[in-house]
Amino acid sequence: MRDVAGFVEESIQKLKAEIKGTAIIACSGGVDSTTSAVLVDRAIGKRLITVFVDTGYLRKGEPEHVQALLKNMGLNLHFVDASAEFYKALRGVTDPERKRKIIGNLFIKIFEREAEKIKADTLIQGTIAPDWIESGGDLRDVIKSHHNVGGLPADMKIKLVEPLRDLYKDEVRKVARYLGLAIAEKQPFPGPGLAVRILGEATRERTAILREACAIVEEEIEAAASHGECELPWQYFAVLLPVKSVGVRGDVRAYGETMVVRAVESLDAMTASASPLPYSLLERIGIRITNTIPEVIRVVYDITHKPPATIEWE
Ligand code: XMP
Repeated sequence: MRDVAGFVEESIQKLKAEIKGTAIIACSGGVDSTTSAVLVDRAIGKRLITVFVDTGYLRKGEPEHVQALLKNMGLNLHFVDASAEFYKALRGVTDPERKRKIIGNLFIKIFEREAEKIKADTLIQGTIAPDWIESGGDLRDVIKSHHNVGGLPADMKIKLVEPLRDLYKDEVRKVARYLGLAIAEKQPFPGPGLAVRILGEATRERTAILREACAIVEEEIEAAASHGECELPWQYFAVLLPVKSVGVRGDVRAYGETMVVRAVESLDAMTASASPLPYSLLERIGIRITNTIPEVIRVVYDITHKPPATIEWE
């Protein structure tokens, strides 16, 4: 993308021509889906219904925050709490690819349900280039099925439109900034949400543990960056491992969960390097996590670059 204004203008014209009826978009409040929603809104206005689904795998406070944000942008918003359905669908599932496919499929099913209710004939998705490149094209190996791609069933009854398909993350941010969106600088969050940050079964209880740890990681890192202790990393979060280890609380033996802190620098998510966070910050994060989440006994920092590790653990 050489020229942002040109891209936006061209996209709006193309979307106007492409979408004849009512469109529906899955908007998570993240940079990709919100930018897609606003682009389509500029093209077809109220004929776009923006659906925000609570999958149960969102971050702390996110359902409330995103609803307020989307309403403030004037989008035609429809909220669906599907958390119970998602927890049920993932019961007993531990394989990362199966998790991604189940979540993607259920997502589409829920959209089809909503789309039928409102008679939408077009589904807008915020897929960006790394999503489909890493999901395996003709000659590419599947690294992981990205949420927007892996979940699509072959018999999908609705037309798919992906306005940001050829853009990389830094380009999407440029478009978001150009459109005046406050979410332009928001860190990326995977489509399958916290489920791919819980290795093993992503139950409601384990999700609650991870959600709290993710909030602590975000708060501590953002506070450190705001008072100049470090640069704000490109992406930063917690991951819950399926490994318990021995510890001691008070004078008593404990046997509890292991939490990983992950923070990376990247430009386009295709490669990344582990952020060199100050030790004092990591120490504060570790102490706060073990003090406030009794189930967690051990906190470790992931020092792996991409490649060979991906940014997310699943
Ligand atoms: P990985 O883990 O593949 O992640 O190095 C690259 C970037 O993509 C985000 N990510 C996703 N984004 N749907 C998305 O829209 C997904 O299924 C998905 N999985 C990973 C990840 O957070 C990182 O920024």
